[in-house]
Amino acid sequence: MFNKRIKIKELLATEPSGQEVTIMGWVRTFRNNQFIALNDGSTNNNLQVVVELGMLDEATLKRITTSASLKVTGNAVASLGKGQKVEVKASKIEILGDSDAEKYPLQPKKHSLEFLREIAHLRFRTNTFGAVFRVRHTLAFAVHKFFHEKGFVYMHTPIITASDAEGAGEMFRVTTLDMEKPPRNEEGTVDYKEDFFGRSANLTVSGQLEGELAATAFSEIYTFGPTFRAENSNTARHLAEFWMIEPEMAFYDLEDNMDLAEEFIRYIIQYAMDHNREDLEFLAQRLAEEEKSLPQDKRSELGLIEKLEFVINNKFERITYTEAIDILLQSPAYKKKKFQYDVKWGIDMQSEHERYLVEKHFKKPVIVTGYPKAIKAFYMRENEDGKTVAAMDILAPGIGEIVGGSQREERQEKLEARMKEMHVPAEELWWYLDTRRFGTVPHAGFGLGFERMVQFVTGMTNIRDVIAFPRTPKSAEF
Ligand code: 4AD
Ligand code: MG
Repeated sequence: MFNKRIKIKELLATEPSGQEVTIMGWVRTFRNNQFIALNDGSTNNNLQVVVELGMLDEATLKRITTSASLKVTGNAVASLGKGQKVEVKASKIEILGDSDAEKYPLQPKKHSLEFLREIAHLRFRTNTFGAVFRVRHTLAFAVHKFFHEKGFVYMHTPIITASDAEGAGEMFRVTTLDMEKPPRNEEGTVDYKEDFFGRSANLTVSGQLEGELAATAFSEIYTFGPTFRAENSNTARHLAEFWMIEPEMAFYDLEDNMDLAEEFIRYIIQYAMDHNREDLEFLAQRLAEEEKSLPQDKRSELGLIEKLEFVINNKFERITYTEAIDILLQSPAYKKKKFQYDVKWGIDMQSEHERYLVEKHFKKPVIVTGYPKAIKAFYMRENEDGKTVAAMDILAPGIGEIVGGSQREERQEKLEARMKEMHVPAEELWWYLDTRRFGTVPHAGFGLGFERMVQFVTGMTNIRDVIAFPRTPKSAEF
């Protein structure tokens, strides 16, 4: 058996008593031909391996370079060095894989996040990305734990679909047709009947519609999977491929929906705070360092940890869209013409407006409800006023929209009328309409953008830095 090792995180937490241990990892640094800082990704803390003088020949010492991989056996002893309790006095060092120090792009020094994006295949080996991806893991685990404990059923909704759940037309086509000479029908357009699925198909933009089907049987379900949007948005919060969590609940109204979303967000943040404290503290420090280069008024008022604690301990603000527009119209920013985009009832709020509400006005997460129906999807429940829908967006400081959700239109005639108005093909969504025909119920749900959540918790400003291999316009490397 090869993998008889102790992980560095575990070893660093034990009382050293000279016990023999085996560790494996990658060299971060090697000082004075004597001290190896070894990392195995279980923690940002390196294990100090001490090489006795004369133990290794010159040739072997030369091979202990940054990023070479080692298997070390030795005795765990109390460390005299600063910053660590335990170190390992090596009795045997085996080089598992050499690394040419000259060619290795990740030198032990500070690199810019932009540069690291170009070597995303190696950036996990940095402290920043080590911390980010361990936190990402914990958050994903907490998502499942939260819903599992509440009795929700995890649904794997399809990735390839023939429908556009959001009706926004931002889909990636899935086809096996020969793009050079596709089959054509009599009108000269591409004949998708000849395509793999016998119809035009695309990557899903949301699992919601299928989620609703399951919720009208299990009562409470959630999805957690990849979603794809061909929107040409090159921003720090848009990806063409992102992960979304979509709970869908029968017998919920909009208020129940908001309560669940708040509880859920608090829970997963708390879980990360309880299980990744060290990584979060590292990221808090990184963020504070990064913000030093910003002018005072652009820096966050709270440190990362304080911000997360604040969110856990305070209820989110809840306002209507109409109130939000009024606040914007009354704001000094509007009066001084600081907004780039116009403000009036009916607009789809831009990120500058959302950020004003959250960061300047309320200084906490805000749930906005009752959006104009014209700017929201066809499935949202129409309010009594005939103008707005029972939508809810949660806006978070530094991020903007983190959750989008609504109570669904459960009344068949209303839903059909709305689909007609919005040119959503009812014949193709016959199965969706069946839920309204056979025992329809009030129901609601929401979608949390997982990467935006990871951004919020880790304080990373660019969404490309919280997903392993980002897909964005003109970029699909790795
Ligand atoms: O607001 P959206 O489009 O809502 C839906 O897809 C609904 N079907 C959800 C539901 O009610 N079940 O997307 C939901 C969330 C957004 O609030 C945002 O956090 C994230 O998904 N999101 C993106 N994240 C990264 N890159 C993109 N291009 C995103 N588009 C949406
Ligand atoms: Mg939205």
